Amino acid sequence: MCGIVGYIGKKEALPFLLEGLKKVEYRGYDSSGLVVLKEKAKCVKAAGKLEKLEEKTKKETIKGNFGIGHSRWSTHGPPTTKNAHPHSDCKNNIFVVHNGIIENYKEIKEELEKKGHNFLSQTDTEVLSHLMEDFFQGNLEEAVIKALGKVRGTYALAAVALQDPGKIVAGRMFSPLAISVNKEGGFVTSDPAAIVSYSKKMIFLEDGDVAVIKGEDFFIKNLKNKLKEREETKIDWDTEEAQKGGEPYFMLKEIKEQPESVANSFRGRLIEEEGTAKLGGIESVEKKLRKIEKIRIISCGTSYYAGLIGKYMLEDYAGIPTEVDLGSEFYLPKIDKKTAFLFISQSGETADTLSALKEVKNKGGLSLGIVNAVGSSIARETDAGIYNHAGPEIGVASTKAFTSQVVVLSLLTLFLGRQRDMDIDTGKKFAKEIKSLPFLIGKILENMEGVSKLAKKYKSYPNFLYLGRRYNYPVAMEGALKLKEISYIHAEGNAGGEIKHGPLALIDKDFPVFAICLSDGVYGKMISGIHEIKARGGKVIALATQGNKEIEKIASDTIFIPKEVKILSPVLAVIPLQIFAYYVAVFLKKDPDKPRNLAKSVTVE
Ligand code: M6R
Repeated sequence: MCGIVGYIGKKEALPFLLEGLKKVEYRGYDSSGLVVLKEKAKCVKAAGKLEKLEEKTKKETIKGNFGIGHSRWSTHGPPTTKNAHPHSDCKNNIFVVHNGIIENYKEIKEELEKKGHNFLSQTDTEVLSHLMEDFFQGNLEEAVIKALGKVRGTYALAAVALQDPGKIVAGRMFSPLAISVNKEGGFVTSDPAAIVSYSKKMIFLEDGDVAVIKGEDFFIKNLKNKLKEREETKIDWDTEEAQKGGEPYFMLKEIKEQPESVANSFRGRLIEEEGTAKLGGIESVEKKLRKIEKIRIISCGTSYYAGLIGKYMLEDYAGIPTEVDLGSEFYLPKIDKKTAFLFISQSGETADTLSALKEVKNKGGLSLGIVNAVGSSIARETDAGIYNHAGPEIGVASTKAFTSQVVVLSLLTLFLGRQRDMDIDTGKKFAKEIKSLPFLIGKILENMEGVSKLAKKYKSYPNFLYLGRRYNYPVAMEGALKLKEISYIHAEGNAGGEIKHGPLALIDKDFPVFAICLSDGVYGKMISGIHEIKARGGKVIALATQGNKEIEKIASDTIFIPKEVKILSPVLAVIPLQIFAYYVAVFLKKDPDKPRNLAKSVTVE
């Protein structure tokens, strides 16, 4: 997502800040900014590419040996120069850069405005600098600790103050932040890639830590103002490895990020006690949504499969008939004012999806978006929308975007369902499932090794069939897509019930089948299909629910997923399939981040 860099030492801060920001460029960003302090604070910001910021800094005299910088991936407020970080207080004394989301920023902003604070941006971050100003009595860390005591949400932040010079104060809550101190000076970053060429020893802050860095010295306190000891970690990555968080590929990093990316997708949006969701991005069309009688979802590739899962949820729980179209196959002979058109896209730039959106707009239809890339074409051109907040996805094979799309679709279902006939208890059950996902995904990720062993065992088969029913039929197609796009093995995703209508003819001992066979309403029918495959000598890898003793006797190999989740089981079921595809590709010596013939964002029709 966003990137934070900070330097304090004997050298000029500006070259380090610019270089550090360049090193975190790979994460994707839409604007950037920095502040360097001496007798005065020089703050420069720019929308767009980093070169724009660099050009601006060349036109100014920016001297000083401490400062902070930020590259932004917008969440609250579009990617404009005003919304870029750092944000300052009314007196231009305190400057803050921040990653994450301050959930209660609206309340805090209202309170501060009543006290006379003047806000210049639409961001949630700006409340931090004004809140610090409110508490500032000459000591920055005291003001930071008091301010953080009032906020709810996630943050990695760095702050500096003209009236308390010679220090950078950094704080972390659920968003990564590291500091490093050596003869070269003191560094702070949200991404080791930014500083790894200066320092190989880092302290990764823990939730609730506030670090005060004074050049070669530092100390860490908690939010109760108590000193804390933290151990240094030795990093032996180079910059490129650091960008991948020490993982060999972005795809693996992104698979592993899913507990966090899923949590970010619902953070601040679930109202558990009311069994509903609050979705700021579609508030403007709330009344229109009450009246709609049909939804048409339009998307491509992985986003299309997420849409198919959305159809089941929207029909079952919100009671709204839903159709799902591939962007490239979409056509609209006549507009129906009681239909809402929902466009799902990670990049927000997929030409097939965009062209369907244009058609809907030309005919005056209500368009909604579920988009990950903030400020992208689809995000801008839809009437209203919900951002995924999954963070940039670099690997061509979509992983964390898919799980976040399904989560956002579940939030939309909850919201539309509660507008209609869904009772509060069902709403609460739904909300509880959504909230449990990050922990359960974490549990599945503990079995990476088990899945990788299966990948090794099956890597040489030339064909695979993936089967699933109902909610997990799209997951079967997504699992097959993952395998084919990064390992170049032929794989098909089929509806479990369809195998006997044709694909069964393909089955022999050399054509393994991945069967998603969870303990749900379609379990019995999936088991019958598995028996049919086994009877023809086929090998079955079953994806089953923890605690199922029967399946191990039938399947050749079994992977278990936690039993706690029912409606949102696709979010859990897809993860072993992502891991399986990843390891097959790696064992076959293919680069999973850059599959041949494919691009991350398909901008041609
Ligand atoms: O950016 P979008 O979600 O609109 O992209 C749609 C597809 O191109 C994309 O999901 C593609 O299928 C992925 N490479 C699959 O991993």
